[in-house]
Amino acid sequence: MTSEVEPPVLTASVLTGKRILLGVTGSIAAFKAAGWVRELCAESAGVTVVMTGAAERFVSSLTFGALSGNPVYGNMFDEDPDRLMAHINLSREADCILIAPATAQTIARLAHGMADDLLSTVVLAAKIPVVVCPAMNCNMLSHPATQGNVNQLQKMGYHVVPPDSGMLACGEEGAGRLPEWEHVREILLSLFSPQDLAAKKLW
Ligand SMILES: Cc1cc2nc3c(=O)[nH]c(=O)nc-3n(C[C@H](O)[C@H](O)[C@H](O)COP(=O)(O)O)c2cc1C
Repeated sequence: MTSEVEPPVLTASVLTGKRILLGVTGSIAAFKAAGWVRELCAESAGVTVVMTGAAERFVSSLTFGALSGNPVYGNMFDEDPDRLMAHINLSREADCILIAPATAQTIARLAHGMADDLLSTVVLAAKIPVVVCPAMNCNMLSHPATQGNVNQLQKMGYHVVPPDSGMLACGEEGAGRLPEWEHVREILLSLFSPQDLAAKKLW
């Protein structure tokens, strides 16, 4: 019997050994994050995935668990003793938080310091770099509420990756596509070589 998913070809890089907490939120682009897990694992980064409830409507946690080789988190009130303080422990155990795709809703939560789900609580408790990759309909993106929230994230020192432009899942054309992995990878590499990112404004 052959597997549908070939094991990744391992390569060493600055990301090797880095612990990435990947937050996946409820965007139509959530499936693309599964490919990013493979890319990170191919560079021997450790990936732990936290999914919002909405993200689980798009992609099964099974997919992320199988690809990362790690348990997937989502429920803040998990009664498993090992997970009771997941919101604190996950923030301590990662070198970087990558939120991709990031919905308008999650961006709003983070911009206002809300802590009403596991992902937003982990981010609030974290003292590590946070990279946010918005993905949404172009009108949602350009809405003053979303733009204000994005500005707030930048003020707080989060790295917001500008979305790509092109044909969107809703059939409209404009900015809002999840950026390509290669672009986000470059940002992660820069993060772990701080001098490169020091004076760089991403958006
Ligand atoms: C089919 C479908 C696609 C969606 N795609 C997006 C999206 O790409 N970006 C976005 O911001 N919201 C999108 N939404 C809306 C979010 O799923 C919704 O705002 C949800 O509350 C986000 O919750 P979360 O941020 O906790 O994951 C979509 C909803 C549906 C039904």
